[in-house]
Amino acid sequence: MTIDRAPRLGQRVLAPFGRRRCEVSRNLSSGGYRIFSALDRDGPEPSAGQFYMLAADSGWGGDQGRPYLARAFSVADAEPTDDGVRLDFLVQAVGPGTSRLAEPEVGEGLSIHGPLGRPFSAPKEVSDGVAGAILVGGGIGVAPLAIWRRQLLAAGIPARVLLGFRDRANSGGLDLFDCSEIRLASEDGHTGHRGYVTDLLAVLLEGDDAPSAAVYACGPPAMLEAVRTMCADRGVACELAMEAPMACGFGACFGCAIPLSSGGYMRLCVDGPVVRGSEIETTLVRGSGH
Ligand SMILES: Cc1cc2nc3c(=O)[nH]c(=O)nc-3n(C[C@H](O)[C@H](O)[C@H](O)COP(=O)(O)OP(=O)(O)OC[C@H]3O[C@@H](n4cnc5c(N)ncnc54)[C@H](O)[C@@H]3O)c2cc1C
Ligand code: FES
Repeated sequence: MTIDRAPRLGQRVLAPFGRRRCEVSRNLSSGGYRIFSALDRDGPEPSAGQFYMLAADSGWGGDQGRPYLARAFSVADAEPTDDGVRLDFLVQAVGPGTSRLAEPEVGEGLSIHGPLGRPFSAPKEVSDGVAGAILVGGGIGVAPLAIWRRQLLAAGIPARVLLGFRDRANSGGLDLFDCSEIRLASEDGHTGHRGYVTDLLAVLLEGDDAPSAAVYACGPPAMLEAVRTMCADRGVACELAMEAPMACGFGACFGCAIPLSSGGYMRLCVDGPVVRGSEIETTLVRGSGH
């Protein structure tokens, strides 16, 4: 398997027009999170780092009020089948939309729009001479790293995985990784290293081979900012899958604008959500993270 060339900043990925209907095919608990799968009969296979805008057919909007707008979800895995593409999502219930999507019945209908946004790039595209990957996930941000790890390994690219969680209730998704070679950290010490996942990254970045790998990270804004500055200080290239409040997901509302390091702004839904560390001023975006 090879990894398709990812578009650069300003080059946009076209998504299929309009919304489609999908059927929920699975819903199971994964630690403190839930994994649900949906069969997308007519959509293309997504790339790692892309996301979908999702809404449930029932219990959404209408007379019941919130949630009204669709909610953004990273694709955590995707598998082509004879009937369409099976999409896996990891969800943490933090409000009305995510709570509704954490409890879909098998067979229930979802409205989906996507795949949207700029995906992760292969290590050699992130920086010349880089051949491996270090994946750093925090909390619900582990979702896009699961599909990315699988695609990297299928392309023969070595990937080391570091995942961190706040505590037992705010952890999960390990079932998506299907491997034991993951280094874990937790702030409460319930699993792995007691402390931040960035402590584990600091150790790897001190190694002589650090510049031969690109870092890919997704997680809370403060974690991403730590990753961004650690990589910048050590001259290691990184890509960050970021979050911002997204009302539309396709460039119309400007709710997801974030400052560029070169001045001006990008809309994270069409120019991200994956950004190079050097492209942005900060990951600490107002209204993002929970
Ligand atoms: C590109 C992208 C990918 C995402 N992938 C996932 C995923 O795979 N799994 C998952 O569970 N969640 C994911 N999220 C976050 C998810 O979209 C939000 O948690 C959700 O929109 C909250 O909706 P709600 O109705 O449940 O809660 P709301 O009432 O809308 O918000 C509840 C809390 O979440 C915060 N919040 C709202 N929107 C966001 C946001 N976009 N980013 C961070 N915090 C937010 C609010 O500040 C508030 O504290 C992603 C967001 C983006 C932008
Ligand atoms: S979410 Fe509307 S412009 Fe990005």
